[in-house]
Amino acid sequence: MIDQAAHPSPFQDRRVLLGVAGSIAAFKAVSILSVLVQEGAGVDVILTEAAAKLVTPLTFQAITAGSVLTDMFAPQPDAHIPHVTLAERADVLLIAPATAHTMAKLSLGLADNLLSATALSTSAPLLLAPAMESGMWLHPATQEHVARLRERGATFVGPESGHLASGASGVGRMAEPDVVLGALRLLLGRNGPLAGKRIVVTAGGTREPLDPVRFLGNHSSGRMGFALAQAALDQGAAVTLIAGPVSLPRPYGLRDYVSVTTAAQMAEATLAAIAGADALLMAAAVADFRPANTAEQKIKKEKGAFTSLPLERTSDILALVAREKSPGLKVIGFAAETSDLVANAQDKLRRKALDLIVANPVPATFGAGESEVTLVDRAGKVTPLPRQSKRAVALRILEEVRRLEP
Ligand code: CTP
Repeated sequence: MIDQAAHPSPFQDRRVLLGVAGSIAAFKAVSILSVLVQEGAGVDVILTEAAAKLVTPLTFQAITAGSVLTDMFAPQPDAHIPHVTLAERADVLLIAPATAHTMAKLSLGLADNLLSATALSTSAPLLLAPAMESGMWLHPATQEHVARLRERGATFVGPESGHLASGASGVGRMAEPDVVLGALRLLLGRNGPLAGKRIVVTAGGTREPLDPVRFLGNHSSGRMGFALAQAALDQGAAVTLIAGPVSLPRPYGLRDYVSVTTAAQMAEATLAAIAGADALLMAAAVADFRPANTAEQKIKKEKGAFTSLPLERTSDILALVAREKSPGLKVIGFAAETSDLVANAQDKLRRKALDLIVANPVPATFGAGESEVTLVDRAGKVTPLPRQSKRAVALRILEEVRRLEP
């Protein structure tokens, strides 16, 4: 079980109704259920009769404390009219896998089994993860049903192309559990506290080339910026993530990812992205200096001793932002300091005209999964935070950003 206080999940305390229809991909629903339960969601499960032949209800019941039902008419102590009770308490209805048959029923509003009756009764948002053979997916009947469900506000994740149960290869494969969970967290966050806001996040370190194979760089892993981007997405924001070279999985649901290498590229991308944005979270570790000359050919050691390396200043991105920004943009800087944490952070806050600065002692938490940061705002308030996961720090920073005066 994940420690929720240390690593707050977007699924914590959410009520998910998981519908499982009769496709061989039903086994993937078990992994989805397992993650949801571990991350603190309450999950009820409805299997169709066909799904119950492929994976037994007992498998699901062993994982969730919620109801696991198949039969519309079986007596249920927990849900006395199941299709009404389950429909009402759901924050979201996820049907994974969704077969062509089940989608056709939903599109037509049929209610001939517990899953279709509950889908008709609920006003919760609907997420469908289709799974079927290519021919069924591509059939005009299925496509019409999909279009109609989309028009009514349903969200689809997948299907993907790849190996199918028949042995053939083509479109129709159910999206993998982590992709489905990504779509689900996005849907649950859709009306979150940052809905309608546009947030720009920079992450990772920049690299300044010395020659075609060497660069000056730093140890930034990008994890803080990625955690911020994910937390903002989870709260309903539209996010642009501008990142230097990092080896991290993309945040779930991110549409706007700008990959850069140098400080100059990051400056250009950031200035372009802030137009119309509500907040800039400048978590990137931007190089302050770059080699004054970049050799066109690889520098050879035979050329003798390398006694000096002339460097020149890069532009300070936050200074450029301060000059160009619209008055509505909240700007949050990050200060990596090896000494005098608060005093240096306060100085940077003033010099860079920031609304908030996140001061980070280095190397203590550089690249680590956790951070111990101090928040300093324009009014002079200093808030030291306990050492906690970068996800928890990111949520706390966003809470502070929401509080800033426009
Ligand atoms: N920053 C920036 N452009 C740069 C360098 C830094 O926008 N060329 C931003 C960082 O993304 C961070 C903040 O400025 O949000 C503070 O970065 P830091 O490296 O701590 O500060 P510097 O201004 O570079 O000061 P110093 O290196 O002297 O501590």
